[in-house]
Formats: sequence, structure tokens, C-alpha cells
Amino acid sequence: MYSTLLTAVENSTLIITINRPDKLNALNKDVIEDLGKILEDVYTNNEIKGVILTGAGEKAFVAGADITEFGGIGAVGGAELAQRGADMVFNKIEKCPKPVVAAVNGFALGGGCELAMACHFRIASENAKFGQPEVNLGLIPGYGGTQRLTQLIGKGKAMELLMTADMIGAAEAKDLGLVNHVYPLAELLVKAKELLAKIQSKAPIAISHIITCVNEAAAAEKNGFINEIKYFGACFATEDMVEGTTAFLEKRKAIFKGK
Ligand code: COA
Repeated sequence: MYSTLLTAVENSTLIITINRPDKLNALNKDVIEDLGKILEDVYTNNEIKGVILTGAGEKAFVAGADITEFGGIGAVGGAELAQRGADMVFNKIEKCPKPVVAAVNGFALGGGCELAMACHFRIASENAKFGQPEVNLGLIPGYGGTQRLTQLIGKGKAMELLMTADMIGAAEAKDLGLVNHVYPLAELLVKAKELLAKIQSKAPIAISHIITCVNEAAAAEKNGFINEIKYFGACFATEDMVEGTTAFLEKRKAIFKGK
């Protein structure tokens, strides 16, 4: 039913596995569309009481937005790409009335880290790696990364990670509050299911109100998300973005000129 997702329901928990392991589960248009569709079902299907989001394979959760789709889309196209993702997937996960937990099983970079951060909380395997490497591409995050990373780990550390593009491991992500628990990869899904089972034993209406209220308490300045999309789009009109994305695809280091 979904060309880019594997799905399974166990004890009323829907397990969504993003399934492009040869591309490290990068988020292309099809993945965004499939996630959008399945989230509609999560909202309306009474048999689904919670969601685990994970990635196929042992290497990546999601290694970012699909860089091959960035070519020639320009500032307007860049902003549209970000807005569409926000509307169809990222904000829908954050506002989902049922618990959505990210089981981060490897690289969570760029849009992958942003996808994990849109979930209500995150658990990770020991091999997980987090980062926002957009500046390597002449870009900034466009799926809420500047806002949610700051909410989760605070301004100073968010500034550093966003500006250096450094990757951090699971243990550091836990110290920073980006993930709640770290487990061996083989135990990750078992633990995620246990957590969801515990939450699903509580009153569902109360849980949905918890999600709304905690989201409100943690909400960033509303314009933060709007401005991020605007500046993300603006990066697409720069020579540096063309150089950064071309360099990635040509597997070489980018040389930026500030243009
Ligand atoms: N978009 C498109 N393709 C991607 C991708 C992305 N974000 N991330 C990885 N891939 C592809 C690679 O191009 C490669 O494809 P190929 O086999 O056709 O050449 C495949 O996935 C495997 O990745 P590879 O780079 O060979 O694996 P690695 O182990 O050497 O490196 C990473 C792993 C995660 C460090 C590296 O893939 C990477 O830096 N990815 C991009 C991360 C990023 O910048 N994300 C933010 C995007 S906004």
C-alpha cells in the first residue's frame, strides 16, 4: 500500500519503518507523501493507539531530506518543499493525539534528526548518530530543526550543533536531552513497544491532552517556524547551495564563497 514504508500493527501500536535502506532512508517526495497518508490513518483509525517510527536496516534512521531532489528548485521551490513537509508530516506528528515515539536506529541527520524531534520523544540505539549538517550544503534546516533542537537542548548547544554540523553519538544525545534512553540495537524495538504498551494502558483522552499541553509549554515563537521556511527557501537562491549539494553528490568537499 505504501511504496516507501513497511507497516505492522502489534497490540494496537503501529510500527512505521521508512524503507529506503540503500539511500539511508532519505526523505524524498514519495516518503513524505506516504508518511502524510499514513498519519491521516493514525489520526482517524480507532484501532491504532500509538506509533513507533523507525528506519529500515542497521545503519540509518533517516539520513536527511533527499539531496538529489534539491537541484534547480529555487527559493520558492525550497520554501514550498519545507512547508509541504511541515503540513503533511512534521507538524502532524507533533500534534498527533496519539503518542508517536521515534526509535532511532542509526543516522538521524538533517531531516532525519528533524523527523525524530517532531516525535513526542525519542529512544535510540547505541549506534545512533544525530546531527544537522545542512550548513555543509549551503543550507539551513527546513523541517523545524532550528526551532525544535533549541527547544530540546537549549540555545547554546543548538547554535553549536547547527553551525558546526557536528554529529553526536547516542550517549551525548542522551546527556543533552535529545533522546530519553539508549539501548543495544537488538533491543530498541522491544523497548519502544514496552514504552508504548505502558502509555496505552493509561486513559487515551488524558494522553491526548498531555500532548497538547506539553506542546504548548514547549512551543517556540510561532514566527520561528515561518522564518525558518523563508530562510531555508532563500538558501536555494545562493551559489553556495548549488556548490554544497553538487559537492555532496560528487562526493567531494564543498568550497563556499559566501554568495
Ligand atoms: N540524500 C540523498 N541520498 C543520500 C542521502 C541524502 N540525504 N544520504 C545518503 N544518501 C545516499 C548516498 O548518496 C549513497 O547513495 P549511492 O550508494 O547511490 O552513492 C547512499 O545513500 C549511501 O550513503 P553513503 O554516503 O555512501 O554512506 P556513508 O556510510 O559513506 O555515509 C552519511 C553516511 C550519513 C555520513 C552520508 O551518507 C551523508 O553525509 N549523508 C547526507 C547527510 C546530510 O547532509 N543530510 C542532510 C540533508 S538536508
